[in-house]
This record gives sequence, C-alpha cells and structure tokens, in this order.
Amino acid sequence: MITLKTPEELQKMREGNRMVTEIMARLLDTVRPGIATSELDQLAEVLIRRRNAKPAFKGYRGYPATICASVNEVVVHGIPNDRVLREGDILSIDLGLSFEGYFADIARTVPVGQVSVQAQRLLEASRKAFFAGFNAAWAHNRVGDISAAVQGSAESMGYSVVRDFVGHGIGMQMHEEPQVPNFGEPKSGARLRVGMTLAIEPMLNIGGFEVQVMDDHWTVVTRDRSLSAHYENTVAVTENGPEILTMLAGGELV
Ligand code: MF3
Ligand code: CO
Repeated sequence: MITLKTPEELQKMREGNRMVTEIMARLLDTVRPGIATSELDQLAEVLIRRRNAKPAFKGYRGYPATICASVNEVVVHGIPNDRVLREGDILSIDLGLSFEGYFADIARTVPVGQVSVQAQRLLEASRKAFFAGFNAAWAHNRVGDISAAVQGSAESMGYSVVRDFVGHGIGMQMHEEPQVPNFGEPKSGARLRVGMTLAIEPMLNIGGFEVQVMDDHWTVVTRDRSLSAHYENTVAVTENGPEILTMLAGGELV
C-alpha cells in the first residue's frame, strides 16, 4: 500500500527533512583530509539528538551507526570507522532521522580536498541524474518515468546505475512502497499521486553496475572497484509538481 500524506503530515515532514539537511550541511563542512568517518558519525548523532530527533539507521536491521560513510568504490552502507579520509577520496554520507514520527533521508557524495577530474564529473553526474528523476515526479506520471529518467541521464553521460539498491517511499516508516529503481521503463509501475513522498537516490558507477556485499554484511562495493557516487533527496509529489523536502530553511540545497 502506498501512503498519501495529508498537508499536515507534509508540513511535519518538511521540518524533519529541513533538520536532516542542516545536519548534513554541518557534516559536509567537517569533511577534510585527516578526519575519521567515525568522528562524522559521532557528530551526526549528537546533532540529531540535540533536536529531539532519532537516528533512523542505528539499529535498523542491526546497522551499528548513525550515518553510512562510503569511500571511493564503496557504493552504500559503509560503516563509519577510525580510518582517516585522505586528499583525493570521495565520501558518500547517507543520513536519516525520524522526527515526530516521520522519517527524513538524504545522501551526498563529496570530494575530500582536491579530487581527480574523473571523480568531479561523477559527482556532478549523480546530481544531474537525481534532477532528471525529480523532474519526472509529477502526479499522473508513473514510478517508471522517474526510473527511466534517472537511467537515461546517467547512461547518456557514460555512467552505469546500480540495480541492487533502489529508492523508496518514505513517511512514518523509512522504507515504504513503492520502490523507486534508478533504471526501468517509462510509463511503467505505480501511478504517482499528490501526497506521495519518495526518496529518489541514484547511485552511479564509473564502471559496471554490478556490486558486491563485503563480509561485514553491510559494505557494498562496485564489483570492478570503480568509483561510485550517491545523491539522495526526500521528495513530495504536490499539485504544483515535485518538491524537495531535504532543503534548508531558505530553500537552498546542500
Ligand atoms: N538511505 C539508505 C536507505 O534508504 C540507508 C539505509 S542504511 C541502513 O536504505 F542501515 F539503515 F540500512
Ligand atoms: Co534512502
């Protein structure tokens, strides 16, 4: 069942999603060569709890941390650790919280210091692929229109899209129906309706789309160990088109 949020519920979701975006901004400001991802994780948890919100990932299916910190060829679900980031790495931070019963979910991949032009292009492409999907998220379209737009955008720039992990509905649960794949056929899947809230989250690889889960049962890496980037926003389908909920108070993205 796909839940449709009332205007009051959407207002609550805007609050939690604004919070998660502000916290993401703080984390991104803190990223630099020499910092460990466990330090970013601790900061994230403090900032979430200070706002009377709860980390969404911690304890979810036994996940041990507040953020996912995925470096270079790690696609998603990297577990924060004491290894320090180095100049030239790319870091994906995925952050979720719940506030007053509603979930918020955001991810960004950013450079650590100066990175290669190849890496910069990948980050830019993952942002563009998100917006291609976002611009298809109009009521009366279908989920497959989002999926096909993401895939078309990514592949037209020469990147592959991960198949094994997908976007999702979000609301009173972190993962709700429908699934929102980053690949698929236009005019397929569930019809989009006003009040739906979706996490649209393309994961792009420089090499092949295949991934592999490491022995810790969480860390997902590209099979060919090529670089991977992730860009996620929580989005509402409104009468006036798609709205990004993961924004700062002034309407800016991070
Ligand atoms: N944003 C990711 C998702 O939507 C992160 C989940 S991490 C987990 O699935 F630990 F909570 F699984
Ligand atoms: Co998500």
